Amino acid sequence: MNAPRIIVALDFSRAIDALRLVEKLDPSVCRLKVGKELFTAAGPQLIEKLMLQGFDIFLDLKFHDIPNTVASACKVASSLGVWMVNVHALGGRKMLMAARSAIPQGTTKLIAVTLLTSMDQDDIDDIGLQGKPQQIVERLARLTDSCGLDGVVCSALEAAHLRQLLGGDFCLVTPGIRPSDGQVDDQKRITTPQQAILNGANYLVIGRPITQAQDPLLICQQLNSEITGL
Ligand code: C5P
Repeated sequence: MNAPRIIVALDFSRAIDALRLVEKLDPSVCRLKVGKELFTAAGPQLIEKLMLQGFDIFLDLKFHDIPNTVASACKVASSLGVWMVNVHALGGRKMLMAARSAIPQGTTKLIAVTLLTSMDQDDIDDIGLQGKPQQIVERLARLTDSCGLDGVVCSALEAAHLRQLLGGDFCLVTPGIRPSDGQVDDQKRITTPQQAILNGANYLVIGRPITQAQDPLLICQQLNSEITGL
């Protein structure tokens, strides 16, 4: 079996709920994402528990602060032994470089969020950023690459363009994935797992279609078989 490309988003507010779900999963079929909600509730102890069960952890805390603070936070996050962490590319070059030097290449993967997909043109104008969302995403992805980070979080719809722009080694992590026969929830610009991989995504972040399924393991296996060999 290849290394899993599915990252299950553990969007829970209590450790017990996350652990109940994880009991049904297996590290051979997926990795896990712990974000601000669950980490605020359960902290490094939960991360340790999940890692002891053999899972790779993406710690999705989107650090954004002065370079020194982000570098220190990245260092601590990496020392937990997590597989991947992220920062905001909007923190700028100095912050990205500081994060990079805090996490040596080849250890914890370090990626950046470009523009939050919740932001539309009005939000962008409000804060005084120039350009259309796509242009800003492209600019921030190039900046991320030039600072030596491993990749970005992006919509699967942007993945094909970024893959072409930034080459094969740049890591693209894409949320907004829904199985072709699945429920859409509150996601708007969705893509099927197959299409996301064909667009050049390396990893797929998937939450509710797995966390709310009767049989989460089976869903992971089905999703994996849809993308195997692509
Ligand atoms: O349940 P669902 O599959 O929609 O969960 C997707 C996960 O990816 C959530 O943790 C959400 O916060 C995250 N995410 C997203 N869209 C982005 C960035 C992150 O849905 N643009």
